[in-house]
Amino acid sequence: MSWKDTPKVELHLHHEGAAPPAFIRQLAHEKKVDLSGVFNDDGSYAFRDFVHFLSVYEAATSVLKTPEDYARLTTAVLEECAANGVIYAESFISPDFCGGRDVEAWKEYLHAIQEAATKAEADHGIVLKGIVTCIRHFGGEWAKETALCAAETKGDFITGFGMGGDENQFTQGTFKWAYDCAREAGLQLTTHAGEWGGPESIRQALDDLKVERLGHGVQVIEDAALMQRVIDEGVTLEVCPGSNVVLGVYPSIDAHPIKRLRDAGVKVTVSTDDPPFFHTTMTREYEMLEQAFGWGQDDFTALNLVAAEAAFCDTATKTKIKKRLEAV
Ligand code: HPA
Ligand code: ZN
Repeated sequence: MSWKDTPKVELHLHHEGAAPPAFIRQLAHEKKVDLSGVFNDDGSYAFRDFVHFLSVYEAATSVLKTPEDYARLTTAVLEECAANGVIYAESFISPDFCGGRDVEAWKEYLHAIQEAATKAEADHGIVLKGIVTCIRHFGGEWAKETALCAAETKGDFITGFGMGGDENQFTQGTFKWAYDCAREAGLQLTTHAGEWGGPESIRQALDDLKVERLGHGVQVIEDAALMQRVIDEGVTLEVCPGSNVVLGVYPSIDAHPIKRLRDAGVKVTVSTDDPPFFHTTMTREYEMLEQAFGWGQDDFTALNLVAAEAAFCDTATKTKIKKRLEAV
């Protein structure tokens, strides 16, 4: 069956990574930016591996130069999410790309993004919250500035703080100051961990950054004691199966540990990460999970209720989402 219209909650989505290639090409054309090397002949994003993906990502993002560009991006992204049944999404937004970590400039980008999100909610019924995200390979000092941007703008829209980028650079603990700053401001916390850095990266994320969710986190499957800790502490995993397969973390969806994690009692959720880069959508993820593991409506409802519970939003919003999920 098609899972397109099934209501979904998506917790792990990179704002620029969700940009349709045609949207980025159009902006490049308008701004006369040379994006050779970013696209394959068929128009899809071109990359060889994770590190190359990150550099192509940053090249594509370079066409997004103004708050207005981010407003247009937000509209395009939320239309696509809503078309795939997503009723609530959280996206990673970086002051590094939005105003170069200058607080006042960041506020202008944020205003534009939020205005577009409000319109998308009115048009399509989709709710967006923003997770301010530092970029790991940019290092700890820039992350401090990013955290200050996050702390300054914490509110109804900015509810979380996170970290993306190259998990093989630095330690999680390098970013302790930034995470302490974000926590003290009242933001909820997540970080990419256990996509590439193994169980040690997850242990550091829990010990040093005290996050309540893990971006990916799937490599916890390699360490039974750590997995028990993740279960005991109720840490939620933002699992992106299609992304993991395309980037080669696992050779196939059948080999992906999401079912084993769920069966063991780990709180797992499903997201797309950077959907057009990984040739996926939320609908496609559900199709793959149905095919690989025989999951059906009850499984997806349960996964979405876990996601709603772990969402970085107020109780009233959670209740509203859960009602829509349970109405199916
Ligand atoms: N992983 C890590 N960092 C990222 C990603 C991702 O999928 N997309 C953008 N930054
Ligand atoms: Zn990610």
